[in-house]
Amino acid sequence: MNYELAKQTPFLELRDGNRLPQVGFGTYKLRGAAGVNTIQQALNNGYRALDTAVNYENEGSVGAAIRRSSLAREELFISSKLPGRHHQYQEALTEIQESLYRMQLDYFELYLIHWPNPLKDQYVEAWQALIDAQRFGLVRSIGVSNFLPEHLQRLEKETGVLPVVDQIELHPYWSQPKQLSFDREHGIVTQAWSPLGRANAVLKDPLIKKIAVAHNKTIPQIILRWETQLGAAVIPKSSSTSRQIQNLTLFDFELSAAEVTAISSLDKDNGRTNNQNPAVYQEF
Ligand SMILES: NC(=O)c1ccc[n+]([C@@H]2O[C@H](COP(=O)([O-])OP(=O)(O)OC[C@H]3O[C@@H](n4cnc5c(N)ncnc54)[C@H](OP(=O)(O)O)[C@@H]3O)[C@@H](O)[C@H]2O)c1
Repeated sequence: MNYELAKQTPFLELRDGNRLPQVGFGTYKLRGAAGVNTIQQALNNGYRALDTAVNYENEGSVGAAIRRSSLAREELFISSKLPGRHHQYQEALTEIQESLYRMQLDYFELYLIHWPNPLKDQYVEAWQALIDAQRFGLVRSIGVSNFLPEHLQRLEKETGVLPVVDQIELHPYWSQPKQLSFDREHGIVTQAWSPLGRANAVLKDPLIKKIAVAHNKTIPQIILRWETQLGAAVIPKSSSTSRQIQNLTLFDFELSAAEVTAISSLDKDNGRTNNQNPAVYQEF
């Protein structure tokens, strides 16, 4: 059990008084017995925050990995996400309870609305359910994922409550400067999904490679450090124990302001990995 790497991971303060580990472990595609082993390995390697979702169909595996680890519940930060098909108020509350039963947990540290699905337009109702789930003690912190400023503003206007976290696609080819500023100005912590661009061409980018050589680090470490220096939390996924450790070893070096700016300049107009624009993309 690597307590050293766990201790080196900073926490980001959430507006509700809770704390989010700045580096967590993404679990998308990790399922079944192999998934349980990989997630358990990540906990052994020092990850304390695990990101799952109803739609990953692996809440069972994540729960099993937690039970197999020797870690106390208070050491962990577990989050899941509400799918688009359950935005209706009562269904949303029931689904949060079902998530807990699947994981065999009594509460979540964080629960997110996975996508706003603005064409369906029920995300305010779903948000009211998360507000109440927090009140009932099912979740400690409530947030959203893939919400644009217009969606966040509507939540505030109609419920008076802003999310404490917005989990969004963020990597050097899609660096989201406007969303980051909006989140910062509103006290919302940005959490980066696909922080390594799901291993696309960014892992071979020549500019990032040059910076990596200068720091004697790998390209993924430079990318994750850049994201953390922008103030974001990150949730890289890896099925390899050495890459899991690499992705958590980020706080023994620092990028200069010029290096941060240089990586930010790699942003592309069409840099999304999968062309999922939350203004129109819907996922149920
Ligand atoms: N909210 C949302 O809508 C949303 C959407 C997508 C993802 N997510 C969350 O974000 C998490 C992370 O995103 P992601 O899984 O899409 O992509 P990612 O973490 O950006 O990239 C994962 C890929 O990078 C490879 N990789 C990881 N570390 C590496 C390293 N050090 N060197 C080389 N290759 C490395 C992995 O391969 P190996 O496994 O072989 O190491 C895997 O192919 C997900 O697991 C999920 O929890 C949320």
